[in-house]
Amino acid sequence: MHYLDHAATSPLRPAARAAWLEAADAVGNPSSLHGDGRRRRAIVEEARERIAAALGADPAEVILLSGGTEADNLGVKGLWWGRGGGRIVTTAVEHHAVLDPARWLAQTADATVHESPVSPNGSVDVDAFRTALPGAALASAMWVNNEVGAIQPIAELAAAAKEAGVPMHCDAVQAVGHLEVDFHESGLTTMAVSAHKLGGPVGVGALIARRDAPLSPLLHGGGQERKVRSGTVDAAGAAAFASALEEAVRTRQGEAARIAALAARLADGIRAAIPDAVVRGARDGYAPHIVHAVVPGASSEAMLMLMDASGVAVSSGSACTAGVVERSHVLQAMGHSAEESRSAVRFSLGWSSTDADVDAALAALPDAVSRARAAGQ
Ligand SMILES: Cc1ncc(COP(=O)(O)O)c(C=O)c1O
Repeated sequence: MHYLDHAATSPLRPAARAAWLEAADAVGNPSSLHGDGRRRRAIVEEARERIAAALGADPAEVILLSGGTEADNLGVKGLWWGRGGGRIVTTAVEHHAVLDPARWLAQTADATVHESPVSPNGSVDVDAFRTALPGAALASAMWVNNEVGAIQPIAELAAAAKEAGVPMHCDAVQAVGHLEVDFHESGLTTMAVSAHKLGGPVGVGALIARRDAPLSPLLHGGGQERKVRSGTVDAAGAAAFASALEEAVRTRQGEAARIAALAARLADGIRAAIPDAVVRGARDGYAPHIVHAVVPGASSEAMLMLMDASGVAVSSGSACTAGVVERSHVLQAMGHSAEESRSAVRFSLGWSSTDADVDAALAALPDAVSRARAAGQ
């Protein structure tokens, strides 16, 4: 199988697997005061230090939790409740882990939500975002879009939020390991990171949060993680997350260039084989690891099932409900028609991707597209 779905989840890195196995053998609750507990606590604190160092943050700013979805929910709902409610300023192309908490607060509480529009290339309208900021409870924008790979001007958006005195959350799940991410430099208040997108295990991640972030907890209980996220901390998960993140950040420059070159070859090959496809990739200013193609007349499901049958794992990039690909809210916000928003295929690369994966994708795609188009007629 040729795996080109790293943006959904990336294979576990051997270093992360080894770190997980080693830490999983230890006993003790990191909150217990006996020797076993203290040794487990040491594993957690060492992982916290390594995660902080890799992200340009202080260890005290790392709140360990279950992954990107929880980190986004804590960033959005935690800041909203912590600020006593009000307007949420976000963008139309956020992941559902940000959009749905914001919209839920509008439905069930008295939040209002501003979703800034984006240009046809997916970048957020900075003026619209800035104009909506004064008096808002919080702002939230993603660093890299998970469907098309659009890179948002996070420093500019964070500076605008700071000027308006509005705390700002960022979903950096698809940016970490692919772009340079430095929390202190960014000017953000909170930032979501997920381990399994960079070769760590599923079920662990972090919200990086300034010490003065006005966060209300979503989980109440034992008061772990600065009293913001109760629950026994997953020491083995934290150790594996730290190993994967460290490796991803240490090798980032060389890897980003290698992956972007693979992605460019893939994008060129798609354009040559399917001239009417709208292809977005690293050379057009998108993230190095994502190549996205809108293929008129071919449904996402049909394309990805046919690619799968040829041994190539790809995705539509957008959410699925009961096996049916939903119309992409991201593509619609970028001006694509409803039909086109169901006709996309996303190739995403990562640490284990090779030339052979690109060759296999390019070999399988023309037939998958013509059969998907024929099936749709
Ligand atoms: C941009 C973005 N945010 C959040 C998430 C959710 O992360 P997790 O799977 O760790 O909950 C994902 C993964 O699908 C993502 O791509």
